Amino acid sequence: MTYYISIANQKGGVAKTTSVISLGSCLAKSGKKVLLVDLDAQANLTMALGINPLKTHQSIASVFLGMESINRVLRHSNIPGLDILPSNTEMEMSERFLPIRKDYENILRNAFMHSALNGSNPYDYVLFDCPPSMGAVTTNALQASQMLIIPTQAEYFSLLALRNMLGLVRRIREQGNPNLIYRILLTMFDMRNRVHRNLREQLETTFHEGLFHNVIGVDTKLRESSLVGLPITDYQPTTRAALQYQALAKEVNQHVHEYVAELV
Ligand SMILES: Nc1ncnc2c1ncn2[C@@H]1O[C@H](COP(=O)(O)OP(=O)(O)OP(=O)(O)O)[C@@H](O)[C@H]1O
Ligand SMILES: [Mg+2]
Repeated sequence: MTYYISIANQKGGVAKTTSVISLGSCLAKSGKKVLLVDLDAQANLTMALGINPLKTHQSIASVFLGMESINRVLRHSNIPGLDILPSNTEMEMSERFLPIRKDYENILRNAFMHSALNGSNPYDYVLFDCPPSMGAVTTNALQASQMLIIPTQAEYFSLLALRNMLGLVRRIREQGNPNLIYRILLTMFDMRNRVHRNLREQLETTFHEGLFHNVIGVDTKLRESSLVGLPITDYQPTTRAALQYQALAKEVNQHVHEYVAELV
């Protein structure tokens, strides 16, 4: 069974893309088959895997525009078990023209449902890297997902964005994906910062299991790794953030294990 996860937050620069590539690569290294999907016209995820979006003619935008199948857009990365559907600037056009299409909020879900990926060796995980907005593309990702991960910094403005994201979750649940669950992931967390510690406590009291136990601390090695086009697990496997994303991957695997056990 494939488990679909969206990583989204309307707030920019909160480590959505970093979390997709780091978590994806940790899951791949734990033996899972993982597909990353770059849904952002900025194509940061595509570049972070060493692919040049300017030389990418077949992108996820072609799938949204109904011109290509997922299989023909798919690319292997240099990391075993980790594949990607790359993005390029055509995604801007997709976002703009999507709403004029019939049932436009389910285009991604339908494309995956009808793809040849569901054959004999399906992906264990598909991770969607969403753009920093709550538009048609993010809605498509949420409609296609079982889980939403909301990366959040421990700051006041992040909490306002969080409230909006939870409003979106409610709308998606009402609108055709009633079982969508969410998990908040604290990123760029500084344990020595009292405001950060207080905010974490506040989130724990408010959200309970809606907050991942694992948090991701500040680690400049993450910045360097995206510049060299490698996931942190391959650039600096023993740095703090690599270990924290590994622990997060275990937490996600554990959840999915329990989820699948409930289904059978
Ligand atoms: N734990 C961390 N410690 C230090 N820097 C980090 C950490 N996580 C991410 N960063 C850096 O913060 C910046 C923003 O991260 P990223 O691009 O993943 O955010 P994003 O939410 O995807 O942004 P956007 O909204 O533009 O898509 C990047 O330079 C990244 O390397
Ligand atoms: Mg991003």
